[in-house]
Formats: sequence, C-alpha cells, structure tokens
Amino acid sequence: ELKNNIKKIWWKYFVQRSEYNVGIDSAIFMNKKVWEATKHASTFNDPLIDCKNCKMRYRADELIKDKIDFKNIDKNIINNLECPNCRKKNVFTDIRQFNMMFKLQFGVTGNNEIYLRPETAQGVFINFKNIQRSSRKKIPFGICNVGKSFRNEITPGNFIFRIREFEQLELEFFCEPNSDSKWFDFWKEKSFDFIKKLGINQKKIRFREHDKKELAFYSKKTIDIEYNFPNLGWGEILGVANRTDYDLKCHMDYSKESLEYLDPNTNKKYIPYCVETSMGLDRLILMILIDSYDEEKINNNDDDVRIVMHIKPSLAPYKAVILPLSKQLNIKAKEIFNFLLLNDISCIYDENGSIGKRYRRGDEIGIPYAITIDFDTLNDDCVTIRFRDSMKQIRMKITDISNFILNEIKKDD
Ligand code: GAP
Repeated sequence: ELKNNIKKIWWKYFVQRSEYNVGIDSAIFMNKKVWEATKHASTFNDPLIDCKNCKMRYRADELIKDKIDFKNIDKNIINNLECPNCRKKNVFTDIRQFNMMFKLQFGVTGNNEIYLRPETAQGVFINFKNIQRSSRKKIPFGICNVGKSFRNEITPGNFIFRIREFEQLELEFFCEPNSDSKWFDFWKEKSFDFIKKLGINQKKIRFREHDKKELAFYSKKTIDIEYNFPNLGWGEILGVANRTDYDLKCHMDYSKESLEYLDPNTNKKYIPYCVETSMGLDRLILMILIDSYDEEKINNNDDDVRIVMHIKPSLAPYKAVILPLSKQLNIKAKEIFNFLLLNDISCIYDENGSIGKRYRRGDEIGIPYAITIDFDTLNDDCVTIRFRDSMKQIRMKITDISNFILNEIKKDD
C-alpha cells in the first residue's frame, strides 16, 4: 500500500498535474540493439576488485572513496588498500570492469540474447517519436515511465538501499538544445519539492553535484538529492541529469531513423536535449520509513515509550483503524468499517486487546486516525476519533467521518 501510494502521488505530481508531461508504460524486454546503440552493453560497468586472500569481492569505488579514474588507477593505491574482511594489505587483484546488465536467452532455441533493462529511460527514448506524434506534444515536453529495473549489483545491501531488482520513477524531459540549463534547474527544484511533499525532514536532505570523474557516460551534469540515513550516512535518493542529445543521437545513428524534431513555429530541425529526473521507489520507501519512525516518551516516563510512524496521511497504508470497545458492538463497528471501505478509505478492524494497546498497534504502523465505537454510539450515532500524532480525541457523527478523513488526506496531497 505504501509503495502504491508513493507511485500514485508521483504520477499525479509529474504527469497528471503537469502541463508538460505525459506518461507511458514501456517494455522491460527490448531488442538487444537498444543497449548496444547507447553503449550500455559496453560501458554500463562498475569497477570490481577481489581479495586474493579471503576471496571477498568489492566495488572498487566503494572501497576507494576518493573520486578516481578507475581505468587508469595507480597500482600503489590498490597495494595499500586493506581488505575490510581479512584486514590484510597487498591482497587485491587489478580492477576489472563488470557489466551490470542481466543477460538472458529467449525463444525455444535459446540462441537469442536479451538484456533486462537497467533503467526505464531507454523505453522512453526509443518511443520518443511515436509518443510525440500521438500525443501531439510540442517541445518542451516530458515523458514519464514507472517500472522495474534490474542491475547485477556487486554489493547489494544496506537493507533495501541497493538491490538487484528495483523500481524506478523516471521523467525524460525534452527541450531545445540551448534551453537545457534552464530546464535542469526547473526539474531539480521540482524534484526537491516532491521529496518535501512526502513529508521528509528538510534538514536531512541535500543536493550533491557529481564531479567530472563520477558522471555517468551519458551525462553532462548530474545533481543528486541525498538523504542522511542513520547507519549509512548520505545516500542518493534521486538524480537529475542533463543527458543532452546523447540517447536520441545514439538511437538515430544506430537505427538510421531520424529522431529529429521539426519546430512548427521556426521550421528549425534539431535533435532535442533531454533533462532527466530519476528516483528509486525502494529508496523512497526506506527514507520514508526511517524519517517517520519515532520513539516518544509519554509524560517523560522512561517506561512508557510509544513507537509511532509519523507518516503523512496521504501516504499511510491504512487511513483508519476501527476499534469496537466491546465485542457486543461488533455489528455497529463492522457497519462503519464497510461504510468507510466503500468510500475508498483503506482501514483495518481491530477488536483484540485493551483499547490502549490497540491505539499503540495503530501508531506503530502509522495509522493517522483511530475510530472508537462505544455504547453511546448506539444511541447518538457518534464515534470518537483519536489523532495519531497529537493523541487528541474528538467526537464526531458517523455520517461525517468519511468526508472528514478524505478532506484531511486531500490537505497534504
Ligand atoms: N536513468 C538514470 C538512472 O538510472 P541512476 O542514478 O543509475 O540513474 C536512478 O538510478 C535512481 O534509481 C537512483 O537515484 C536510485 O534511487 C535508484 N537505484 C539505482 N540503482 C539502484 C539499486 N541497485 N537499488 C535500489 N535503487 C536503485
């Protein structure tokens, strides 16, 4: 539910509420030539290094934190490295380039090779002309794509920070060649606003620009937005990149099909430049979970600690929990439960344990509103609503609950 909510909010923000952008759902399986054209097949590499003593395998750029040109690295640097596992020096192999794309066979004969996509972006570039024509969009405009990407990471880990199968939310924005810097700044700010919209503590996010050696092979300039994670420090959540006309030009050269755009006002023909903003859904989830987690002492009492997820109501997997004070109130409570479900308010029903314990269970998974049905409810058709963050309570008519909750969600949407 959390994942779906983030995706919905992203889609609304970047597609439905944007005057510029449209959306597609492109294929995971694409012709191998797509990745040959862009040089992903030869260049989408990570530097790999092995310890000859304990056989541990590392990403060289993680071991050597300085920004270094790994193709021409000084042997002394490698010799002086200490293996983090066996603590020995002088044990490392040379650095080898390791291609991160998964290769597989398709068809009954199994002779045909295909790659799993390592980014969704290429599905946009190869469909650029088709989308531009069918949507009748004029430059500047953008194309959004959400979906799974796959990378054979050398060192997956840090919970779900680096994994081999992950989901990306990407916007490829096409503009005139000389307007790329302006649009870069525009989407950089928009991306920052999006992270703020998720309710993230602003002190924990920052911009970081890639230096020349760190830039991906397709990028002229990249600025990441990073989050300060408690255990791993600053980590990339998203990247805004100026991909220039790199991708369209590669596909044009390789396929011999024109991907030029004819400006209807000036009659000028050009290959559009592309500014991209690309974020990982799994990293957004990790950031949201960590950022909203809190342990609060109640009345300054060390023995009474409340675990609570201060997750925004629009993102919360469940908006409400229905709590009958007694099992004799089940019929009325179930009526309210079903009424809310039919009004598109996702909620759960909890009838076990003391009311205090049930409040805390809801707090722990970030449910913003707890709705208690008591014996008075049978006479006055009112319930008590308790707010997760302030723990304040108010009494409300049953008929008003769904509008109240929907309005609260809309406020931060
Ligand atoms: N199309 C551009 C692109 O793919 P990237 O910086 O390699 O750029 C974009 O990836 C985002 O995808 C990252 O900022 C990160 O959030 C996410 N991402 C990349 N590799 C990942 C992995 N192995 N596990 C989880 N998320 C990943």
